[in-house]
Amino acid sequence: MHKVRSSLVAAVVASLGLGLSAQQAPPAGQQPQEIRVTMPRPDGTRADGPVVQIPRTPVVDQAAHDRGRAIWARECVDCHGTQARGGDGGGPNIIRTTTVNFDRSAQVAGSVLGPFLKAGHKTQSGTPSASFTDADVVALAHFLRQRVNDTMRGSALFTVGDILVGDRAAGEAYFNGAGKCATCHTSTSKSLAGIGKRIPAPVDIQQRMLFPGAGPGRGRGPAAAAAATPGPNAVTATVTPPTGPAVSGVLLEQSDFFVTLRLADGSVRAVRKAPGTTVTTTNPLQAHIDLLDVITDTQIHDLVAYLESLK
Ligand code: HEC
Ligand code: HEC
Repeated sequence: MHKVRSSLVAAVVASLGLGLSAQQAPPAGQQPQEIRVTMPRPDGTRADGPVVQIPRTPVVDQAAHDRGRAIWARECVDCHGTQARGGDGGGPNIIRTTTVNFDRSAQVAGSVLGPFLKAGHKTQSGTPSASFTDADVVALAHFLRQRVNDTMRGSALFTVGDILVGDRAAGEAYFNGAGKCATCHTSTSKSLAGIGKRIPAPVDIQQRMLFPGAGPGRGRGPAAAAAATPGPNAVTATVTPPTGPAVSGVLLEQSDFFVTLRLADGSVRAVRKAPGTTVTTTNPLQAHIDLLDVITDTQIHDLVAYLESLK
């Protein structure tokens, strides 16, 4: 039976050109996983295919994952949410999509996500996704692998207690010291006062800390920016043409040729990027995005233990 399944996996995988080796034995302690493959019908629509076993748990490279998380915060989180399960910017849950699942199963991270992004996909900054480097794609792929792993039974996200492994005092010291959190927050200022009571699950505190403003109605992201009264965390931009006055407003969209802004009077204006035009953007949450490049897991856990104690 196992043999039959394995050769089925090999056939399906080979037909997708993913190069996954079904011969490879699962590493000790790692159970095969079942996924349902969708098959193209002759008329071009897709039908549910067989449930197949993928004989290895994809490895998540932690360093690549962390780089991916920073790219995710910059380019994807507003639409797809912190967990890739959908966000208020109109992006769907992508955990079960073919692209994410096959990439997760592929031997080389990014080998399915890469072509998807090369073909062109939306980004928050307007940077064409086709221009992402191979390293960027691999990093995003590792980040998404972990998001899928997090939906599996037994992951830390579902055993919430596991997240409270940090040292509260070390978290407080980092908050007031090297983490520079205290340059913007205090334990009693509006964002953080009573956060441990307001947000009972430590995992949610962690998500809010790593991706502030990304939750529903949090005043960030394309949907929030497009609203007539943008939230306080909306990204703003100033466009300065070579001649004539500068224009400032909430950044709605940016392409190679245009910057679209919502002006203070509520009107929407697309400004052409004539040669010599400069665009400066201000993101009130930039410090949090930068944080993702430097913070370690230990510091994250310590901070969550500290924030959780603010009741
Ligand atoms: C402006 C909103 C927006 C942004 C930003 C965005 N996406 Fe999407 N994404 C969507 C929508 C909408 C879909 C649904 C299919 C479509 O319209 O392309 C989607 C679909 C996907 C899919 C599913 C493909 C499939 O197999 O069905 C993946 C994977 C994906 N996005 C990854 C990303 C990544 C990675 C980023 C950041 C680099 C990103 N997205 C940024 C809106 C967005
Ligand atoms: C440059 C200013 C700045 C720095 C530095 C900064 N933050 Fe923030 N932080 C913000 C802003 C702005 C928000 C968004 C306000 C909001 O949504 O409540 C925010 C939101 C948060 C939230 C979410 C609050 C909520 O209720 O959802 C947490 C948690 C948080 N920050 C923790 C930290 C920690 C921990 C550090 C240090 C590692 C830090 N911040 C550093 C500006 C900053």
